[in-house]
Amino acid sequence: MTDLKSRLGEAVAAAFAAEGVASDKVRVTASDRPDLADFQSNAALAVAKAHGTNPRDLAGRVASRLEGHPDLTSVEVAGPGFINLVVSPAALASRAAEVLADDLHRGAAPVADSRRVMIDYAGPNVAKPMHVGHLRSSIIGESLKRLFRFRGDQVWGDAHFGDWGFQMGLLIVALADEGGAEAFMADGDGPFPADSPVSLEDLERLYPQAAAKAKEDAGFRDRARKATAELQAGRPGYRALWSHFVAVSRTALEREFSALGVTFDLWNGESDADPLMAGMIADLEAKGLLVEDQGARVVHVAGPGETRKKKLEDGSVVETPSPPPLLVVSSEGSAMYGTTDLATIVDRRNRIDPQLILYVVDERQAEHFEQVFRAARLAGYAANGELEHLGFGTMNGPDGKPFKTRAGGVLKLHDLITTATDKARERLKEARLGDDLAPEAFDDTARKVAVAALKFADLSNARTTSYVFDLDRFISFEGKTGPYLLYQSVRIKSLLRKAGDAAPTDTPIRVDEPAERDLVLTLDAFSGAVADAYDKRMPHLVAEHAWRLAQSFSKFYAACPILGAEDAAVRASRLALSQATLAQLELALDLLGIATPERM
Ligand code: ARG
Repeated sequence: MTDLKSRLGEAVAAAFAAEGVASDKVRVTASDRPDLADFQSNAALAVAKAHGTNPRDLAGRVASRLEGHPDLTSVEVAGPGFINLVVSPAALASRAAEVLADDLHRGAAPVADSRRVMIDYAGPNVAKPMHVGHLRSSIIGESLKRLFRFRGDQVWGDAHFGDWGFQMGLLIVALADEGGAEAFMADGDGPFPADSPVSLEDLERLYPQAAAKAKEDAGFRDRARKATAELQAGRPGYRALWSHFVAVSRTALEREFSALGVTFDLWNGESDADPLMAGMIADLEAKGLLVEDQGARVVHVAGPGETRKKKLEDGSVVETPSPPPLLVVSSEGSAMYGTTDLATIVDRRNRIDPQLILYVVDERQAEHFEQVFRAARLAGYAANGELEHLGFGTMNGPDGKPFKTRAGGVLKLHDLITTATDKARERLKEARLGDDLAPEAFDDTARKVAVAALKFADLSNARTTSYVFDLDRFISFEGKTGPYLLYQSVRIKSLLRKAGDAAPTDTPIRVDEPAERDLVLTLDAFSGAVADAYDKRMPHLVAEHAWRLAQSFSKFYAACPILGAEDAAVRASRLALSQATLAQLELALDLLGIATPERM
């Protein structure tokens, strides 16, 4: 099953080929002038010169070859050589029927070859509160996970839990000072208490205190470093305590993520890479990649001539390698963030052997990933094209800086969802929506509206751009928002309920009115939107499609009576179109990680 655009693309390419032009510049796009045509090809203008011919003549010859194509009612050459294509009502009707019958993909084509893909996203840390970077990563990563899976890849979403490193030592010494976990502080092999000595509130209180103290108090800092080293060396009491920290954090995080409709297949942690670290460092050593640098050990990743100017403290300017070397072992002997990421690649290779790993992480970490990826390729842990950093911009406050709460703190996911849900309740009441829902159903709708608002606001922007957090706008039922799209789908659901039995999938569909044509052409465009979003790793293209579809439906609804249609066949056909629209809209929203309520 192919979409009209690809099908016509092939027909046009064949016609060009028959004229001696085989070029990947031969393409078909949606028409710029929907009043004149449905699709167009500008290829004649792009290729004529290279083939020593005049674009209008070439277009004319191609057009005559397309004459009589079963999907087309007209083929015309316009201007200097545009080929305008008008699709036949029958072809549109059969395409709409395909979309309606295609329960799984609603007209979207799967990938030809399925790959094993890992998506590293969210990246929350034990005890440290999440910030907007984690929020965006969760939303974008979840959508990419769904999109890749939908197109037929085998996908693992990994939270890549930040459960290792200095923050663990900080928590241990902070807890040692506060008391209450003496049993874990003892030397020896235990056994240690099976119950956690700390709650989530304790961790959230202890971590910022300890982090602040470490900045001022060198003695405290040293003790935290030592505790980190002892934990990593396997001191049993610390290990037992650490397991509690990890479990307590993870339970809380999973709850928050699930409220946001974000779930992971794997919760592998940075700690999982730890057992591989020593072997990997030895391997880098053996491969001659590890270089001594002022007491530290690094891997040089810049090629010859890859330098940038760097200003030194004394004001002089020097050329330094760009990207800078990857720090593998610090002068104090500890493994670093980059070491962990490198060892994690080895770990993933051993466990899953992915053909592609996507890292959905803040653009500000771009250089880090460039260093890690280059080191991985040098060491033979990954081939070209297997590792991709998908950076994203920040969600900003009105001041244009990364969003902070009113109190100036980082935002907590839980608070954000609660605030958005409260607001959703207010808005629903104002709009007199959900009046006749039972309290639980109303709450469920409010939660869905809140999540739709937050996610759509994020995913409707190209991932690389930053945007301003404006909850009032996000949660509005008007404009390009998640709640608007939910409202549209609920409206179609209620229309179908009123119509009684859902339209059977074998209802003959008729596509006569301009608004019907437009709606079917939009349904047809889903396949292309999904493929583009996948190729570019840009979920906003799916968001854009969902918005367009809702608008096309709205126009159709206004122009074409459905329940009020006089002719029973027309009524059935329009109901079938509504049903296809609803199914594709819900699917598109699902790819964005947005669930729709039954009623509002
Ligand atoms: N935990 C990290 C942070 O909070 C993000 C991890 C991103 N993923 C990775 N493989 N480094 O910044």
